[in-house]
Amino acid sequence: MTMDKSSPGFPKVRLRRLRKNPAIRQLLQETRISVKDFIYPIFIKEGISVAEESKAMTGVLKYPLSGLIEEVQDCYDLGIRAFIIFGIPSSKDESGSSSFSEHGIVQQSIEALRKAFGDQIVVISDVCLCQYTLSGHCGILKGSGVDNDLSLDLLAKIAVSHANSGSDMVAPSAMMDGQVKAIREALDSSGFDDTIIMGYSAKHASSLYSPFREISDSSPSLGDRKTYQMSFLNHREALREVMMDIQEGVDIVMVKPAVPYLDLIRRVRELTNLPLCAFSVSGDYAMIKAASTQGLIDEKQAVHEMLTSIKRAGADILITYHAKLISQILDGE
Ligand code: PBG
Ligand code: ZN
Repeated sequence: MTMDKSSPGFPKVRLRRLRKNPAIRQLLQETRISVKDFIYPIFIKEGISVAEESKAMTGVLKYPLSGLIEEVQDCYDLGIRAFIIFGIPSSKDESGSSSFSEHGIVQQSIEALRKAFGDQIVVISDVCLCQYTLSGHCGILKGSGVDNDLSLDLLAKIAVSHANSGSDMVAPSAMMDGQVKAIREALDSSGFDDTIIMGYSAKHASSLYSPFREISDSSPSLGDRKTYQMSFLNHREALREVMMDIQEGVDIVMVKPAVPYLDLIRRVRELTNLPLCAFSVSGDYAMIKAASTQGLIDEKQAVHEMLTSIKRAGADILITYHAKLISQILDGE
């Protein structure tokens, strides 16, 4: 049969040719996610001896220090190589002093991981005050407001203490102006020139953090975080936050949350050649868990689709509570 080249339909476009069977589809797959892209959050709680379930996030546990190595080994066996540590201290005070104590829960966790795994894993530590202050705010209060510059000194102290314990990467999440600069200077002057800073550069005041706050006991006792975290109504301001971190010498930038901000992830990807991390937050996890538990969606498929969208938008690496599950999803892909 000869084709009529003058017909408006020529050449005949048939995208279905490219989807004919699994082998062809796999060859032409544009986005690949791998367990190596993921950072797994680990909660370590001081003063407990057995792991605790959390109400807000079924399947995410709080571990005692004594259970840390076994849990990380479990993840390691699934292929996960990067971990972000969140501490839940047994005592809080006004200045959040347990966050930078030499024997703090995070410091001890980092040391234990270094000792057990050497440089076979990447140890990342969240640098913030909200789990450690009585107010539950990410900075120190002066009157009823959070004092930016007083908080910088403390954040720098926390970062240096984490580096001193052997953290590869500190991740300041307090959203204080100038936090990256303050931390970089403190690290360098303490001899930690090689410690990486991953900034929570554009971290939004989001409704999707509630499950995290329940697990880590870090809700603000008064007010909200809107004076220091980004408004989701502002896009250009979020780009300024990212630019500011870059100017202050950050090594890796982050957008958080990820899924409702895919437009921003794409913009940041175009703005900078720095590695870009995205944080799929506790609310993402909780929503998928709730819907799949009710049989409304398939958990594995939903997770695969959601995490792929973040990668497709332009993120290089992802923090996700689904890291263990994804290793099963990707099995054989
Ligand atoms: C604390 C912190 C939060 C998250 C990471 N670090 C909560 C907050 O800012 O209130 C959120 C993580 C998540 O929801 O998964 N600075
Ligand atoms: Zn905080």
